[in-house]
Amino acid sequence: MRPRMDRPRFDVISIFPEYLAPLSLSLVGKADENGLLEIVITDLRTFAEGGHKSVDDTPYGGGAGMVMAAEPWAKAIDAVAENFDVVHELIILTPAGKKFDQALAYELSLSKHLIFACGRYEGIDYRVTEHYRSVPNFRVREISIGDYVLNGGEAAALVILEAIIRLIPGVIGNPASLEEESHSIKGEDSQHLVEYPSYTKPSLWRGLEVPRVLLSGNHAEIGRWRSEQSQLRTRKLSE
Ligand code: 6GU
Repeated sequence: MRPRMDRPRFDVISIFPEYLAPLSLSLVGKADENGLLEIVITDLRTFAEGGHKSVDDTPYGGGAGMVMAAEPWAKAIDAVAENFDVVHELIILTPAGKKFDQALAYELSLSKHLIFACGRYEGIDYRVTEHYRSVPNFRVREISIGDYVLNGGEAAALVILEAIIRLIPGVIGNPASLEEESHSIKGEDSQHLVEYPSYTKPSLWRGLEVPRVLLSGNHAEIGRWRSEQSQLRTRKLSE
């Protein structure tokens, strides 16, 4: 019998499993240890064929670099999916994907099972995407973290996992802090705002004072000031 899924599960498949070691640290690592979720890292090479355990080959049509072959990926993906009778969100990490943002982090934080496929070289044979788009219970997304090129999807997987996992109930001690932070705050025309600047003690540091309103105890005024600062900061970003 298939084990019931009592907590969200995150599978990460990579040829550099050591690259994902930070997932056992900090908030994400604690959430895993505490049983709020489960993170499993799989070495793609385990599913490679032949004595050389090769996972890549030259591209059809020519060109520079190597392409990751479809079969080891399909074997690995099938292996991590087969134990769970839920919808599998297959995330293919590629600079050609949809740009990751806070809204997508929220959406993915509701999933029971996420599978991250960390491509390297010139990417993964596109038929892997096509194939899983036609497999029932799979939802496939190609995701990028920004307009620059990394050597592989591992760093992107770390970024995306951290953004998602901190949204899972129980992971963050004070969930109220989630509501006030950058990109969660919405302005009047419901555009995303970044957070206002923050200060702590001492009130005078290297000749710099904390904005006086923050010491006033007037919460209505503080609220107005913070909202203004969010608008200002957001506007400056697009200059
Ligand atoms: Cl997801 N992968 C790679 N290789 N480069 C990227 C990326 C992903 N996102 C931005 N650049």
